[in-house]
Amino acid sequence: MQACDSIRSAVLERPRSKAAADFEADRKQGLGQFLTSQAIASFMASLFADRPPEIRLLDAGAGDGALTAAFVKQFCDSGRRRRPKRISVAAYELDEAIVPAFQDTLDLCQVESRRSGVQFSAELRSEDFIETAVGLVHGDLFGTSKTPFNAAILNPPYRKINSDSHTRRLLREAGIETSNLYTGFLALAAKLLCENGEMVAICPRSFCNGPYFKPFREQFLDMMSLRRLHLFESRSSAFQRDDVLQENIIVHAVKSPEKPQTVIVSTSSGERDGEIVERACPYADVVSPRDPERFIHLVTGESDEAVRQKIARFTTPLAKLGLEVSTGRVVDFRATEFLVQEAQDDTAPLIHPCHFTGGFVHWPKPGGRKPNGICDTERTQELLVPGAIYVLVKRFTSKEERRRVVACIYDPHRIRAERVGFENHLNYFHARGRGLPMDLAKGLAAFLNSTLVDVYFRQFNGHTQVNATDLRNMRYPTRPELESLGRKIGDAFPNQSGLDAHVEREFL
Ligand SMILES: C[S@@+](CC[C@H](N)C(=O)[O-])C[C@H]1O[C@@H](n2cnc3c(N)ncnc32)[C@H](O)[C@@H]1O
Repeated sequence: MQACDSIRSAVLERPRSKAAADFEADRKQGLGQFLTSQAIASFMASLFADRPPEIRLLDAGAGDGALTAAFVKQFCDSGRRRRPKRISVAAYELDEAIVPAFQDTLDLCQVESRRSGVQFSAELRSEDFIETAVGLVHGDLFGTSKTPFNAAILNPPYRKINSDSHTRRLLREAGIETSNLYTGFLALAAKLLCENGEMVAICPRSFCNGPYFKPFREQFLDMMSLRRLHLFESRSSAFQRDDVLQENIIVHAVKSPEKPQTVIVSTSSGERDGEIVERACPYADVVSPRDPERFIHLVTGESDEAVRQKIARFTTPLAKLGLEVSTGRVVDFRATEFLVQEAQDDTAPLIHPCHFTGGFVHWPKPGGRKPNGICDTERTQELLVPGAIYVLVKRFTSKEERRRVVACIYDPHRIRAERVGFENHLNYFHARGRGLPMDLAKGLAAFLNSTLVDVYFRQFNGHTQVNATDLRNMRYPTRPELESLGRKIGDAFPNQSGLDAHVEREFL
């Protein structure tokens, strides 16, 4: 089946004009078409543990058939006694342009199966998987089983789906609430698996945390029993050809309500023949039974485990500190009429991430791209908060930034204003709408800026976005502990190693 990649190269990499290439890129983007390399497809196929004699395989969003090909090869190559009697594949692919390439792959699968004495049949449906699968889940299709598959291998398309779209309505009909196509595919595939059926999927890691994916996490983790999670160390390594910036994960799960004792968590660089490092993690460390958000934590190595244990010592929820975290209220494109480039008498400071410098907000930034002020009028009162001490955290960090969690203090002694506006790219910690005492604010900002928190944060958050829910869901040192740390911080924050040393001395 080595031919599989060369077929793909011939089909997908033929020379073309720039306009055609741009059109092709847009079309692929629209379809969420990022094809799996042969190395990754083979690795995915090797994760299936069960060997039923009759395999009914689902490949949803099949592309040119890389996953089906790898699956067939894996099972045909196994020793004679472990080889299945029959493999039947149902593949769904919306893009008719890629169907001939898939057909070529099926021909190769047919040859491979015949050679190994395995009966092989395949049905390629050039139709919308969501539409068909929702019908199957309902059992609408006369005579068909509601759970027709005992194996599913997929690399689903990644695309946001609007809340009023046809796709979203279809998913809702099947009892699935999700805002991305890939989680829709995963949820439907899980529903279509029979008891103990296995799924191996490669997808973005974003479903592991964040509020939007909570209904999906609940549903998926209730239906499926996680067996293995494999993470690629570099964002782009899994799909080198396609400029994918999401962190990707491979999930191996079995349809069963029983949770395993341990889940294998592994990592690799994503390079061909790259080393795979794996460890068995207690299930409760991956999905904590105490976590209502059902975040999925990926503790990938010994140093990660040491951090997990250190963080486990902090048990104080934010509410017990008397604090809350909210997202900045000023969405600049909705408030354009109130924004001013330079502050004036009748304006309040408007704070953006660009005002973060060395742990404190430095405002204004004259001549910068961002407006420094927002009108302080009756009409803007609900966008403003009282001028007081707050801890701000960037909601988005660039890939180049060393830390994911970047915290900073807004200090009204440095910026004199009765009210202040926080732009929507910021989260802010407050005491039920009011400011914090300075020692607590400094301690909290120092804790959040520590390497300890950063490493921990990356265990459940695989993207560059820091949601208020992520911060709300974390556990913190006690209030006296944070205040004591805060008292060690002077008028300027120490550098990273100095700050880490303070955190280490205070808490660990
Ligand atoms: C991420 S690609 C993966 C392709 C292939 N499975 C692989 O791993 O190389 C997802 C595929 O799903 C297809 N697709 C997108 N929306 C679809 C839908 N609603 N129904 C069926 N296929 C769809 C795209 O055309 C694309 O080929």
